[in-house]
Amino acid sequence: MLRWLLVFSALGLGACGSPTIVSRKEWGARSQTCRAQLTLPVAYIITDQLMGIECQELNVCSQELRGLQSHSVYTKGWCDVAYNFLVGNDGRVYEGVGWNIQGMHTQGYNNISLGLAFFGNKIGSSPSLAALSAAEGLISYAIQKGYLSPRYIQPLLLKEESCLAPQQPVMPRKACPNIITRSAWEARESHCPKMNLPAKYVIIIHTAGTTCNVSMDCQVRVRDIQSFHMDTRNFCDIGYHFLVGQDGGVYEGVGWHIQGSHTYGYNDIALGIAFIGNFIEKPPNAAALEAAQNLIQCAVVKGYLSLNYLLVGHRDVINTLSPGKALYNIIKTWPHFKH
Ligand SMILES: *[C@@H]1O[C@H](CO)[C@@H](O)[C@H](O)[C@H]1NC(C)=O
Ligand SMILES: *[C@@H]1O[C@H](CO)[C@@H](O)[C@H](O)[C@H]1NC(C)=O
Repeated sequence: MLRWLLVFSALGLGACGSPTIVSRKEWGARSQTCRAQLTLPVAYIITDQLMGIECQELNVCSQELRGLQSHSVYTKGWCDVAYNFLVGNDGRVYEGVGWNIQGMHTQGYNNISLGLAFFGNKIGSSPSLAALSAAEGLISYAIQKGYLSPRYIQPLLLKEESCLAPQQPVMPRKACPNIITRSAWEARESHCPKMNLPAKYVIIIHTAGTTCNVSMDCQVRVRDIQSFHMDTRNFCDIGYHFLVGQDGGVYEGVGWHIQGSHTYGYNDIALGIAFIGNFIEKPPNAAALEAAQNLIQCAVVKGYLSLNYLLVGHRDVINTLSPGKALYNIIKTWPHFKH
């Protein structure tokens, strides 16, 4: 077996809905007898290439898999095929032991990883583009559904290695930004309506007040904004889902699960992200812009934001100067921007 290292671009995961998975029933698997459960989400993906199986069509690949399963059970004495999923050279994903059961592919990793095997290609050749793209789709789906950590690691395991101790991360995922929680900035308690997740829009806002560039100051700003929104504007809580400071920090507003009070008509379907400060003349600094973009990507990966979300400026949806001309000119260039 050759270990096959896939290199996926950080978020360019071919995220186009759920992959088509040929179920065990469809490929005619004997019934599942494995018991060891995985604790989800797992942190690792292990990929393998199975040699000596060639197939291009559903019925032939299914037959090959039935053979592999019998071999695994009768010759190897395992409870099933060794992998969680198998990706055929036909570009189809075949269910192995599935999402919840531990595979038997890599000693030391079986209880913390999803094992993915490519099969069906000629000996010596790489998986087809269709197969690689199906694997990407499966990984993207696994992240969205919480089976796989968005910061998953694909260890580089060499064939020669006899002892598979955990390796250095090969491709650490871009992490979700650290979020300064409500309890950290000492938010007041509230009881507000729930969001409709995943959100369909991101609305970029500025608070139009004083900015901040160190966390202690930003926490004071956020507390002041919450009090202003609750006591003067009679909002249920701070109006934004998240706030971003010039310290590069992301401050939890009402968070993912609660409706904001930022944009009449959009509060239950849009994530309102507010830059702390006034950005009419001067845009936010690079740290703040990057933090906001990471937060948006993180929202997609975590399934809080729809894959085909639209990004708009506050002034695109209500009559306001927010998010300020200088900031607006920047977000116009961001992915998913829609005037
Ligand atoms: C996986 O198995 C190892 C060795 O049996 C054990 O030490 C570890 O705690 C297990 N991890 C999980 C997440 O179950
Ligand atoms: C933070 O802002 C103050 C003014 O409010 C400025 O004097 C200082 O240079 C800024 N620090 C950084 C690191 O940008």
